[in-house]
Amino acid sequence: MNEKIVILDFGSQYTQVIARRVRECNVYSTIIHFNTPAAEIAALKPRGIILSGGPSSVYAPKAPLPDKAIFNLGVPILGICFGVQLLAQFNGGKVEKGLKREYGKGTLSIKDGSCKLFAKLPKSLQVWNSHGDKLTKMPAGFKTVATTENSEYAAIENRAKKFFGLQFHPEVVHTPRGKEIISNFVHSVCGCGKNWTMRNYVDQAVEEIRAQVGKEHVILGLSGGVDSSVAAALLHKAIGNQLTCIFVNNGVLRSREAEVVQQVFGKSFKIKLQYEDATKIFMTRLKGVSDPEKKRKIIGKTFIEVFAAAMKRVGKAKFLAQGTLYPDIIESVPIAGNPAALIKSHHNVGGLPKNMKFKLVEPLKNLFKDEVRLLGEELGVPKEIVWRQPFPGPGLAVRILGEVTPSRCEILRNADAIVVEEMKASGLYYKIWQSFAVLLPVRSVGVMGDERTYDYTIAIRAVESQDGMTADWVKLPYDLLEKLASRIINEVKGVNRCVFDITSKPPGTIEWE
Ligand code: XMP
Repeated sequence: MNEKIVILDFGSQYTQVIARRVRECNVYSTIIHFNTPAAEIAALKPRGIILSGGPSSVYAPKAPLPDKAIFNLGVPILGICFGVQLLAQFNGGKVEKGLKREYGKGTLSIKDGSCKLFAKLPKSLQVWNSHGDKLTKMPAGFKTVATTENSEYAAIENRAKKFFGLQFHPEVVHTPRGKEIISNFVHSVCGCGKNWTMRNYVDQAVEEIRAQVGKEHVILGLSGGVDSSVAAALLHKAIGNQLTCIFVNNGVLRSREAEVVQQVFGKSFKIKLQYEDATKIFMTRLKGVSDPEKKRKIIGKTFIEVFAAAMKRVGKAKFLAQGTLYPDIIESVPIAGNPAALIKSHHNVGGLPKNMKFKLVEPLKNLFKDEVRLLGEELGVPKEIVWRQPFPGPGLAVRILGEVTPSRCEILRNADAIVVEEMKASGLYYKIWQSFAVLLPVRSVGVMGDERTYDYTIAIRAVESQDGMTADWVKLPYDLLEKLASRIINEVKGVNRCVFDITSKPPGTIEWE
């Protein structure tokens, strides 16, 4: 991508959000480490630089600081939150501990409407603050363009140098017009066009894949999930018959999952698809196992075995493709106060037998999840796959508490199919993070007709979430809940009771296991 915005990461929890917002403005953005040398940054030829926020204070002994030469590159700079303090620190201003921490909603009053950042925006804006330190002396060449109740310097500008500082966070949804501020920065200030689109990306990615792979063959593990499905469609567009996908049926898939994958990728896309029905071996190994961790380990290990054997049968491939995404490869910034942040290992093929060596193709590694979905649409992958809810690798096994048996799988598959069908019919399926059924291996008494029953319970779970890390239970309408319960109890043999889970995460998890 010729036009790009470079984001220096100082450890903010929102760094990736900044990158996504820039891309939503159709401008490519890339996240790099805060202390990347200015010469390396210059070599990337950025149209603009954004300094992320971060948990530190510029005065902290181990504060993450940039190479000071970045301020002499002649490139526009937008400093956000901690980024403002950096602008001040390196340009002769002063930052002190604020008497009051400014946290949460605030109102921004724009004092200088000629500032390009606030073009076409009202004079007063709702913004989201999260900072303790504040600017007390303006850096040289800067002037105030907006204030809040608590800060005289909420937005500052050095017009000659095209440097801007915002004490609030324009990238978060709690700053409702923030995206327009970011758009003004990347388009009006940095002069970027709207070139980052998935339509353009397809051409670029196809070229890159061809250049990397040449005439060699590539294997991809297709799970039917969003990432591997979109990777399959993209690779197939690039290299056609040089791609073979392996799809393993581990016996804990959802209803019709194997058929849909074969139909979509085998029949419509005409991708070479190796279908491995390993249901029996998975079921045999899971027999008698109730411990959730053991179940996961058995499924993981068996998957590798089945997959490796299938790869040997496919033969001749030099490359293994993976649906690695951008967040998997960004190196977290190891900053004081954030000790758990480690460099991520993205080569998660680990597990394949040591004598099987492959080169990796990762055609989605520069994309965020929302971009992968748009790319999928661009490539004609059906909506039911592109927009489907997350589904765990160990499948229904984590939704059957206790032992996983073929008959329990059958019960849960039928109940789950009803949940998916009714959630789609209600229009809620694509609006929420996840909705599914869980089988509780407890039997209770019921009556059906004149007969007493002694059957399992199905728990219905529906959650909203941004990333699966935290979640709220969704207040499903009563009539939908009623329909779900009545259909499940009437139509799924072996179930006589339904309950609805009203636990949020934390303290609960999304899956029950
Ligand atoms: P928990 O249950 O930990 O789940 O709150 C958070 C999110 O992760 C999904 N999940 C998995 N996804 N492999 C996956 O690919 C797994 O083993 C796995 N376990 C949980 C879960 O569905 C939720 O979206």
